[in-house]
Amino acid sequence: MADSQSAAVDTPNSKPMIRPADPRFSCGPVKKHPGWTWEGLSEAPLSRTHRAGQAVARIKEAIDRTHALLELPEGYHVGILPGSDTGAMEAAMWSLLGQRGVDVFGWDVFGKRWILDARDELPLDDLRIFETPAGQLPDLAQHDGKRDTVFTLNGTAAGVWVPDLDWIDPAREGLTLCDATSAAFAVDIDWSKIDVLTFSWQKCLGGEAQHGMLVMSPRAIERLNSYKPAWPIPGLLQLHSGGKANMAVYEGSTLNTPSLMCVEDYVSSLKWASRIGGLPELVRRSEANFAALDAWVKQSDWLGYLCEDEAARSPVSVTLKFTDPRIAVMDAEAQWALTKRICSLLERENAALDISMHRQSVPGIRIWCGPTIERDDLAALGPWLDWAWREALDAA
Ligand SMILES: Cc1ncc(COP(=O)(O)O)c(C=O)c1O
Repeated sequence: MADSQSAAVDTPNSKPMIRPADPRFSCGPVKKHPGWTWEGLSEAPLSRTHRAGQAVARIKEAIDRTHALLELPEGYHVGILPGSDTGAMEAAMWSLLGQRGVDVFGWDVFGKRWILDARDELPLDDLRIFETPAGQLPDLAQHDGKRDTVFTLNGTAAGVWVPDLDWIDPAREGLTLCDATSAAFAVDIDWSKIDVLTFSWQKCLGGEAQHGMLVMSPRAIERLNSYKPAWPIPGLLQLHSGGKANMAVYEGSTLNTPSLMCVEDYVSSLKWASRIGGLPELVRRSEANFAALDAWVKQSDWLGYLCEDEAARSPVSVTLKFTDPRIAVMDAEAQWALTKRICSLLERENAALDISMHRQSVPGIRIWCGPTIERDDLAALGPWLDWAWREALDAA
């Protein structure tokens, strides 16, 4: 029997025969791409200045490969910013907003972060906030093309995503600023509806956490060229230079020192993605992963989707709450204790790591289905969840 399998024990709650070959189902940082090795980073231009030709070339390669892999339209620019997705998103908010009214749609821990930024940090005079509790989308029909719109494409913690961008005005005057950190490379994106998009390296492609990626449409660049907010902007969030768009950012001249080790790792994940067939294959892998998990969820009598609306259910970061009537009546503290027991059992068995729901959400389980995960591992996970549930209940 292979090491990754364990013998069945003849008890009412036998351990499943097949164990996921890789138990890393965390929603971020996520599992590295299949075939990842340390040797794959051996060409990193370490101990060189990031302004050296070789280093700039590597940073530019990361930018160019991102542009190609995301199938960005002509005229869109890609930059690498400090501070991961938060850094890229806040640079965009601080550098672009204030020229007109702003709407922020938030339904996730991070969507709510952008609400805090807009409401409590930026001196925005004309602000509308559309906020919902975990598990529900706000009313996107409130979008007004005359205003700037800030939203999250996939709420990683809530397991709720925006299934399409049809609600965005194609002839808008305002800009759309989209946090797509856990959606970029896992779903198709209608770029005609996006002016600014951000993501990090440690989500769909399984890179190292470090920098934030910023995608800018021609209209977003034009906003920088024609408008600079009156408020102070720290250097790390400055997308202007001399009152105009700082175009050097999109040519590999980063605002401060990047990690060339992390750049190399990101390039390695981009190479993997194009080797296997590019964006269509990444999306196909994610969909197949979600289908494998969905088949198990649909027959489960103790876990169900947090998001009631099937269309708004994230197929990438899947959030599941307790549906067993005995648990549904327990208070949150008892449900979190059960969540913890289930997760500890699975970790002890090396069957699943880091699948607890986000601490700011409701008790339950959260499973990543992005493109670096293998479908067979998700298929093998279901019986282990059932096993851990029965064990945890027995101990309760
Ligand atoms: C939707 C979303 N936005 C933003 C972030 C923050 O990302 P980072 O830690 O890369 O700044 C996360 C992190 O999980 C996220 O899920």
